[in-house]
Amino acid sequence: MSARTLTIDGELVSARAGESVLEAARDAGIRIPTLCHLDGLSEVGACRLCLVEIAGLSKLQPACLTAVAEGMEVRTSTERLRAHRRAIVELLFAERNHVCAVCVASGHCELQSLAAAVGMSHVRYDYLTPACAVDISHPRFGIDHNRCVLCTRCVRACDEVEGVHTWDIAGRGTTARLITDLHVPWGEADSCTACGKCLLACPTGAIFSRGSTVAELERDPTRIAAIVAARNERW
Ligand code: FES
Repeated sequence: MSARTLTIDGELVSARAGESVLEAARDAGIRIPTLCHLDGLSEVGACRLCLVEIAGLSKLQPACLTAVAEGMEVRTSTERLRAHRRAIVELLFAERNHVCAVCVASGHCELQSLAAAVGMSHVRYDYLTPACAVDISHPRFGIDHNRCVLCTRCVRACDEVEGVHTWDIAGRGTTARLITDLHVPWGEADSCTACGKCLLACPTGAIFSRGSTVAELERDPTRIAAIVAARNERW
């Protein structure tokens, strides 16, 4: 397999052709923040937290969707990028009702960890405080739309790993919502196998096990990649 040599934050890095900048950076021990990326799932470039600067390009590029190229010069942590990332995280908090103090995932939430990592001490935007539903019609799980960031990790885990595509997104912009089947309550979604992969993939407290209380929800999203790897080995 051919290799590409590039620099990331001034460090000379070798990567496989076709690898993403995100993968190359991680292999080199350089951490780029992500939210919609999850190992084992396809990339959609939805969250834009992994934006990086590439010499010669005026627009910021998502590291998860940008393939490495010979001689590429990448910067992952400039003042401009830090400002963008903080603004993105603040906007995510402003768009729904992320009240960490009463969330099942508090302490185990990727959005909460990102807020700390980008130094978010407060939100500079007006909160939209939308009226979002909580669906506990499923016998084992629930979805709290207040906590959803529309990363689509659950949609992709359900479609690409479980192969049933119970989840999808309906609507646009601030009215976009996760739906099950043709917008029926989750408990009435015939396609759902109750496998729990959506719960594993969710980065926040949006999808939870029924009966979990504040800060109780711990999941291991790396199990999604492990399932995919095990399946690929068998095939
Ligand atoms: S991780 Fe790249 S856009 Fe979300």
